[in-house]
Amino acid sequence: MEKLMSWIDDRFPLTQVWEEHMAKYYAPKNFNFWYYFGSLAILMLVMQIITGIFMAMYYKPDAGLAFASVEYVMRDVPWGWLIRYMHAIGASMFFIVIYLHMFRAMIYGSYRGPRELIWLFGMVIFVALMAESFMGYLLPWGNMSYWGAQVIINLFGAIPYVGDILVEWLRGDYVISDATLNRFFAFHVIAVPLVLVILVFLHIVALHKVGSNNPDGIEIKKNKDENGIPLDGIPFHPYYTVKDIVGVIVFLMVFSAIIFFWPTLGGWFLESDNFIPANPVSTPPHIVPLWYFTPYYSILRAVTWAWLPGGAKLWGVIAMGSSLVVLFFLPWLDRSPVKSIRYRGWMFKTALALFTLAFLMLGWLGTQPVGGINTVLAQLGMLVYFAFFLLMPIYTRLDRTKPVPERLT
Ligand code: HEM
Repeated sequence: MEKLMSWIDDRFPLTQVWEEHMAKYYAPKNFNFWYYFGSLAILMLVMQIITGIFMAMYYKPDAGLAFASVEYVMRDVPWGWLIRYMHAIGASMFFIVIYLHMFRAMIYGSYRGPRELIWLFGMVIFVALMAESFMGYLLPWGNMSYWGAQVIINLFGAIPYVGDILVEWLRGDYVISDATLNRFFAFHVIAVPLVLVILVFLHIVALHKVGSNNPDGIEIKKNKDENGIPLDGIPFHPYYTVKDIVGVIVFLMVFSAIIFFWPTLGGWFLESDNFIPANPVSTPPHIVPLWYFTPYYSILRAVTWAWLPGGAKLWGVIAMGSSLVVLFFLPWLDRSPVKSIRYRGWMFKTALALFTLAFLMLGWLGTQPVGGINTVLAQLGMLVYFAFFLLMPIYTRLDRTKPVPERLT
């Protein structure tokens, strides 16, 4: 074994990489529940890729065959139902993990310097992940696949001058059709996953350059012993590999329970309209995206003011786009002298609580019919959403923070 290892190490830095990134990578010793979600996100990415490869063995990217090929996987292919549910429900589980992972960054200020690039890579991952799931959703060629894609692609039509041409170019046809299905398939199975894997690699390279933040928001590299090892650090392996296995097991228990006992989750994970084949002449009563898109969908629909120049639809699209763009600027909007919520004052805590409530409310409203009180609530939610970011430079400076200790608590 030793001989083999030194043979490899003479030709490839295997031991060096293992030590730098695992056995001698010193992570803060106070990681808590919130730090499970990075490794769980890796688990989900790998699981989506593996189940996706098996789906691709039976799936037919053809508007005439796609729906039936998925039903064939569900009914006739041995264990096909499991692979298909792991993949379709896995998409929702992936987003749960990602939202909690991002929320962790917000409560502990992990996006702040020197970790801005980790956050920016994360944001690009997030946008790519949304594109990935949006295109994947068309593939089963169910009725909600068809009409969901119809609504979202048509949004580009709101762009002045080029809108109509752009929409036709994206679809590759005058309607959502076989051509659209084929290009979405190509993006979904190879282009976007490839980009995602590369981005996750860069995300982790950036993380290991600066080191992890932690629930106290203290830089452990400021306190090192005589050997240059952070006093508050512990080797990632075995301490956090073991901790992460606990997270993986609990997560897989929840995931399995959903797959085996309640795969549709009452329509939240699989919509009933998608058990009906795509029908271009029959619109579902409520066209609703899956839950992870509904907060932004709500913002889109909250803009109802027809007097706006260019029309309400254009501004709805701009508002929806801005709700994502503003997240990229988070590292520079936050002006607090402290990172972690533990040492922040009431202003940030209140702002974050209101933002979280507004985000959840927008998410719920996105699944409901528009009009009346729902539209007013969505407008209120949108106001709180943007105020959280745009007023951040002010309230984070005014906020009275607590003194941050020298060492981890
Ligand atoms: C496929 C998606 C993703 C994967 C596989 C992934 C993976 C990871 C891993 C393994 C870590 C270190 C462990 C941890 O801190 O939990 C991490 C840290 C981090 N990630 Fe992600 N991530 C993903 C998406 C995102 C997104 C969408 C964002 C935000 C926009 C983000 C922001 C961060 C930040 C700020 C850190 C540093 C956290 C800290 O040190 O406190 N990540 N990520």
